[in-house]
Amino acid sequence: MRKIILLTTVVSNMVFAGSAEENARIQTMQNLETALGIVQQGFMYNNRSMIANGIKKLKYNASDIQSFKIPGKTDYAQSEAKAIVSLADTILKDFDARDKDKVLDSYKEIQNKCITCHIIVRKW
Ligand code: HEC
Repeated sequence: MRKIILLTTVVSNMVFAGSAEENARIQTMQNLETALGIVQQGFMYNNRSMIANGIKKLKYNASDIQSFKIPGKTDYAQSEAKAIVSLADTILKDFDARDKDKVLDSYKEIQNKCITCHIIVRKW
């Protein structure tokens, strides 16, 4: 009986525990979501160091997207990762220049990139 329970546990762990790669991917995504939230808080509190901190987290985690394999789209993840990093840099630069419209355009463009990829992989 104990053997059966043990075996069941082992098998269900194999079925339900994601692969290390999948777990890392989910962690990267959750970090990105947190980072975007920090950047937005920084806008609202007019707190440059908060924005800079969010941007740093955003860039660090966006780089990890490069290794994603998106079915049917060679190099897509890589180019999107680079674009997000570059947009993140632009946000801080435009914030320092007090260019609200550019800051918000870049923020929205990043969100657009997040959701565009999600629409490909999971319909939203
Ligand atoms: C190139 C594709 C791609 C881009 C770009 C992308 N994601 Fe994702 N995202 C994924 C994939 C794939 C998953 C599903 C991960 C899984 O379930 O294995 C996902 C899932 C998520 C999740 C859900 C994680 C969970 O706990 O289930 C969040 C949150 C998320 N992404 C945030 C973001 C944010 C924020 C951005 C933009 C800054 C972003 N993603 C950009 C591919 C992408």
